[in-house]
Amino acid sequence: MGHFLFNFILFIFLLSWTSPLAHSRNTPHNAKTTLLNVVSSIQKTYQVLNFNPNLKQQQKGSSVFSSSSSSHFSMQLHSRASIHQPSHADYKSLTLSRLDLDSVRVNSILTQLDPNFNPEKLSGPIISGTSQGSGEYFSRIGIGEPPSQAYVVLDTGSDISWVQCAPCADCYRQADPIFEPASSASYTPITCKANQCKWLDQSQCHNGNCLYEVSYGDGSYTVGDFVTETVTIGATSVRNIAIGCGHNNEGLFVGAAGLLGLGGGPLSFPAQLNSTSFSYCLVDRDSDLVSTLEFDSPFSRDAVTASLKRNPEMNTFYFVGLVGISVGGVLLPIPETSFMVDSTESGGVIVDSGTAVTRLQSDVYSVVRDAFVRGTRDLPAANDMSLFDTCYDLSSRSSVEVPTVAFHFGEGKVLVLPAKNYLVPVDSVGTFCFAFAPTTSSLSIIGNIQQQGTRVSFDLVNSVIGFSPNSC
Ligand SMILES: *[C@@H]1O[C@H](CO)[C@@H](O)[C@H](O)[C@H]1NC(C)=O
Repeated sequence: MGHFLFNFILFIFLLSWTSPLAHSRNTPHNAKTTLLNVVSSIQKTYQVLNFNPNLKQQQKGSSVFSSSSSSHFSMQLHSRASIHQPSHADYKSLTLSRLDLDSVRVNSILTQLDPNFNPEKLSGPIISGTSQGSGEYFSRIGIGEPPSQAYVVLDTGSDISWVQCAPCADCYRQADPIFEPASSASYTPITCKANQCKWLDQSQCHNGNCLYEVSYGDGSYTVGDFVTETVTIGATSVRNIAIGCGHNNEGLFVGAAGLLGLGGGPLSFPAQLNSTSFSYCLVDRDSDLVSTLEFDSPFSRDAVTASLKRNPEMNTFYFVGLVGISVGGVLLPIPETSFMVDSTESGGVIVDSGTAVTRLQSDVYSVVRDAFVRGTRDLPAANDMSLFDTCYDLSSRSSVEVPTVAFHFGEGKVLVLPAKNYLVPVDSVGTFCFAFAPTTSSLSIIGNIQQQGTRVSFDLVNSVIGFSPNSC
């Protein structure tokens, strides 16, 4: 009997010793609950509708930018809420529009990566009077010599950077004046023979010069001249960056002058800068706080690291080595294969700056959701809303303890999410929903609601992604 007891204790000891859940000092991955500040989340829903452009951002010139050195570029990053007035009467209609746009985004990514994918349904027509455009995060760059300032949407899900260009055959509404090639000394057409033209997925030749076309799968597209220009980032100007000068642009980019492609392909902005790494920190989407997008900055020491993988067939997207998810301090029984790219090159998990709500395979989603629901039985339930099937009425609370949710990467690395990154307000009267959603695809996406307030770093040389909760 004593022998049995000894073996049993040894067994328990070994089990805890070999547990893959070794964690960093500051973030107890096994904390059962995390505090959600309900009042502060609801206050932000009012702020976003009371648009009040931040005066700091009205200044022009390099003084508004963070410091730059020759080895390191940095530029400001803004939420849409801080530069563009939402046209919604209340936070609920803003949420519904954001969730529809998010489905449009996910449909366009998953149809590129997964031929068997069934697109998500939308609750209404996407181009409507209240359409606010896609992309929640913007930076300001200078195009040309002298530089014309332009807000561009940050996008890790595509490679080609572009701005709307005069003369416009078709341009949507934007905040800044349309870029005028004739007023830039550095504007140079790319010839059809150049590599940059050959790397385009869709190109044409006109009088020996290269024309580009990018379609985003959601009905949005841009077509125009493919040119090299000087791009100014913060206080630094970089010559000969291939960008699209879009004369014919249609879509959901309302407010921005164009897009900054941060994907993994050879035409992406980091690739053209020859960057070894880049990172961004996404501020709360409803705040007017300013953060940064950085190139070649050192990795933060406290970063939770994960492997960065590429699919050679689809080098735009950044795949991350997610191996598990825990809820309430307990690692859930999800086979690691649910998160892996299989032998047919399908599945896997991508990190995307433009998708809002993290998508998980339906089976995986059910396991995560059910565990969360088990830990929140004492909270009053509310009706489903759009993508969200797990909602609560927190109108009578000022704060609540909710089960801790954490992403587990290989080698015992654990990213504990703040409660506001997975229990989000959907109106201004206290309805909150669990901000994960199922997908019929085998591919999962880690979205920007879950990335908020975290510096996400892509080490392109060593193939590592870092998540730093305290380095915005
Ligand atoms: C990147 O490297 C290529 C090839 O070495 C070079 O031609 C180009 O000027 C570099 N670009 C920058 C921005 O340093």
